[in-house]
Amino acid sequence: MMKLIGPFKQIVTLNSLPFKGALKDELLEIIVNGGLLVQNGEILKVADFETLRKEFWQAEIEEITQKSVLLPGFVDCHTHACFAGSRAMDFAERNAGTSYLEIAQKGGGIWSTVTATRNASQSELKTLTENRVNGFLKNGITTIEIKSGYGLSVEEEIKILNTINQLNTKADVVPTCLAAHIKPRDFEGSNIEYLAYLTENLLSKIKHLTNRIDIFTEKSAFGIEESIHYLQKAKEMGFQITVHADQFTAESAQMAVSLGALSADHLEASTESDIRVLANSETVAVALPGASIGLGEPFTPARKLLDAGACLAIASDYNPGSAPMGNLLAQASILATFQKLSTAEIMASLTFRAAKALNIKDIGKISNGFKADVQAYDTTDYREILYQQGSMKPTKVWKNGHLI
Ligand code: NIG
Ligand code: FE
Repeated sequence: MMKLIGPFKQIVTLNSLPFKGALKDELLEIIVNGGLLVQNGEILKVADFETLRKEFWQAEIEEITQKSVLLPGFVDCHTHACFAGSRAMDFAERNAGTSYLEIAQKGGGIWSTVTATRNASQSELKTLTENRVNGFLKNGITTIEIKSGYGLSVEEEIKILNTINQLNTKADVVPTCLAAHIKPRDFEGSNIEYLAYLTENLLSKIKHLTNRIDIFTEKSAFGIEESIHYLQKAKEMGFQITVHADQFTAESAQMAVSLGALSADHLEASTESDIRVLANSETVAVALPGASIGLGEPFTPARKLLDAGACLAIASDYNPGSAPMGNLLAQASILATFQKLSTAEIMASLTFRAAKALNIKDIGKISNGFKADVQAYDTTDYREILYQQGSMKPTKVWKNGHLI
């Protein structure tokens, strides 16, 4: 059955914007008094509402009576939403002067979330994660990536990946294995031995649960050589790769590019040469302003990355440690003010450019053949949405053409 949804005061389609580089707002296609024709969860056509109504007179009408602006659903391409427990104590301690790395060295940080997550049953973990994902969906996030990484043993990582795969949600969920988050405290052996343990005992068992492997490459986690070896093995086994890169120290973004990673995420410490390498590649540069806000660290050099020609995405990094806020739109709006990013650049980085980081081609634009994942805001001017810095929430969200 064909359905015509509208009229919308403005439809921001994001049509014909390129994947890479800076974007001027003049490039945005805005359809005034537009309609959206959908069939079988897919967008058939987007155009003037009255024209569509006449041409497709047989379509069922889903009438929008409020004046509203329609955007593509957002894609959050980097989260750690599957965890138990809280790290409120870390947050307070950091703000009182102890660093993220010092807290980690004392056995707090990621390890304390590992302990809480291991202690949670699969059904507790499922309920916690489902509530978070469904909250994100209400806020317009129709596709969400979720990493494991708080299990850190074969059994516990499989428990988390199973949980992520079994969530009861209308959102599209993309699972990623981050068993290489840190070497767990209870593993007797070196970093290299831990990574070999994962390669030999975990990766072949999770092919049905994920096709993506991530690693935290950082002084406090895994070194460059160790990471290269692990990621190469993962690639040989057919996994796509992504890297937590250049968060506190540089170098790993260039490694991610040289290994053909889909994305290099964080990049707060990236230098001019890292920016150039990213810009000359197909690896998506993912900024995580939530982690900068959560830790009080510098923002990713998003302006420089775009000006150099990179594909920039923005994700929430939602996790209990470095990025507890979990409000993607607020974080993107804040990044825009500090890095001077245009509305077009922010919209692209939350939609089709973020979809590229997940290797998904049919989401993130309101365009023929794309999934009908869209969201409406109660305003007549699309610029109000970023202006309100995350306080304005969508009033309606459609997944595959169905109102949530
Ligand atoms: O992306 N940097 C590594 N991992 C997460 C933080 C995880 C945590 O602190 O629990 C991040 O910021
Ligand atoms: Fe992260």
